[in-house]
Amino acid sequence: MTGHKANKKDSFQAKLEKNVVGLLIMIAIMVSVGGIVEIVPLFYLDNVIESEARNPDGSVKFPELEGIRPYSALELAGRDVFLREGCYTCHSQMIRPFRDEKERYGHFSLAAESKYDHPFQWGSKRTGPDLARVGGKYSNEWHVAHLMDPRSVVPESIMPRYPWLMEATIDGEGIVKRMNAMKRVGVPYTDEQISGGKEAVAGKTEMDATVAYLQVLGTMVKFKKGVDYRE
Ligand code: HEC
Repeated sequence: MTGHKANKKDSFQAKLEKNVVGLLIMIAIMVSVGGIVEIVPLFYLDNVIESEARNPDGSVKFPELEGIRPYSALELAGRDVFLREGCYTCHSQMIRPFRDEKERYGHFSLAAESKYDHPFQWGSKRTGPDLARVGGKYSNEWHVAHLMDPRSVVPESIMPRYPWLMEATIDGEGIVKRMNAMKRVGVPYTDEQISGGKEAVAGKTEMDATVAYLQVLGTMVKFKKGVDYRE
């Protein structure tokens, strides 16, 4: 013997690295701890959602954020079309707080602006431009022409055509059910808004709804210059 002692007593780490199940369990524990430490405080900080932030005297810190409201019945129907057609696969609705984004799209997105969005439409990829503040950028007629045939207004566009939106009408019973579902997950629709939902979409096409939705995006907050909404 040469006094070689290797492998006599493996360290905890050496043992763990040879035990696949044990290693997976420990990784799961470590990742969970990291996640809890990062995520749980967000549930308890009021100013995570900027519209909930309060001054020391209890008054609302950013009154202009009170413009944020639930989608109307027609806008909600348009949002459903947006989801069904997979517009989110090419379009994000999340302006990041970087100079290039702010110069192109406007004020960076606030958490408060998505608070009634279930599920939120931040997206994860931009084949087309971000749509978080597209509301008011074009006329309704432009949107209709663009959705019917994007190349009629943007010759180099690779966006698909959506001509069927012009023919399909909105299901009034369906929108009442969807508004009720939204209420259940915390969107403060009043009973009148819900009961009026059917009438609000009567005779409207999916094109009307999609355009109404696009035109409200990013327009609920009238941003004040020089205010830092992160505080
Ligand atoms: C295959 C990817 C793709 C899909 C899917 C897609 N788009 Fe687009 N979209 C684009 C591209 C690329 C542009 C930029 C060229 C143009 O304006 O057509 C664009 C532009 C737009 C614009 C103009 C934005 C601006 O600021 O100029 C709007 C509004 C829009 N899309 C809405 C939609 C809606 C609504 C849907 C779903 C019904 C949709 N898009 C689906 C790729 C896509």
